[in-house]
Amino acid sequence: MVEVRYEGVTKRYDDGFEAVKNLDLEVQDGEFLVLLGPSGCGKSTTLRMLAGLEDVSEGSIQIDGDKINDLPPGARGLGMVFQSYALYPHMTIADNLSFGLRMAKGEERLPDDEIIRRVQETAKLMELDDQLEKKPKELSGGQRQRVALGRALVRQPKVLLMDEPLSNLDAELRHQMRAEIRRLHDTLGTTTVYVTHDQIEAMTLADRIAILNHGELQQHGAPLDVYNHPENEFVQGFLCKHIDEIVDTANSLFPKE
Ligand SMILES: Nc1ncnc2c1ncn2[C@@H]1O[C@H](COP(=O)(O)OP(=O)(O)OP(=O)(O)O)[C@@H](O)[C@H]1O
Ligand SMILES: [Mg+2]
Repeated sequence: MVEVRYEGVTKRYDDGFEAVKNLDLEVQDGEFLVLLGPSGCGKSTTLRMLAGLEDVSEGSIQIDGDKINDLPPGARGLGMVFQSYALYPHMTIADNLSFGLRMAKGEERLPDDEIIRRVQETAKLMELDDQLEKKPKELSGGQRQRVALGRALVRQPKVLLMDEPLSNLDAELRHQMRAEIRRLHDTLGTTTVYVTHDQIEAMTLADRIAILNHGELQQHGAPLDVYNHPENEFVQGFLCKHIDEIVDTANSLFPKE
């Protein structure tokens, strides 16, 4: 079942620049899709249009078959995690996690005991249950990023959007969090759209990758299919050659004999 569909989507900024050009792309229910490409290729713009943070200039974006171009961000049922995951510094981790739920209005507002239950459940999932009374500054970078992720998950979003969520972390932590994010996805099965410019991150996380360049979709498919069958020179250079070089470097560091 298709959860998210971009149909002929173009984004033209006010200065006339086309950051995304006539994009057709589907994300299946429960799928982990990675948008991959070099800096400036339009990854964030693609994600931000889905989130409702940027207008769509042409075409339509659908969630569950409904066109959502004009729906406000809060009504789209999405959770978002960004590179700069501003937590509220004066609130405890528990309050940071529950903030979005507590601010909901009308029918959307859950009863307090349900909010408490969800926060506890999410904290457990993110291994933050011992940290709930602390303030963000008392946590490590990795723990803070887990709070940011928990804050998105606690709302049980239909689709989880992540824009380079690991790029502020050091290499070791990035590696750990990558495994964590994949584990969470395997546990929860939330449809996910994840933006990165890191080829290894894309290959290890994705069910499917979609490669962009200059605002145009170059190719999409399962990571190994794309790696084994690049459809054009850009994909060959940006993905295949890059990965081969990493493998060559590793082999030269650790010769077989
Ligand atoms: N508000 C804006 N007005 C005009 N051009 C913009 C605006 N925002 C982004 N752009 C341009 O659109 C293009 C795509 O930007 P976008 O942020 O989507 O790239 P990206 O793939 O996320 O890059 P990065 O990996 O550096 O985050 C870039 O060339 C950028 O300069
Ligand atoms: Mg970006």
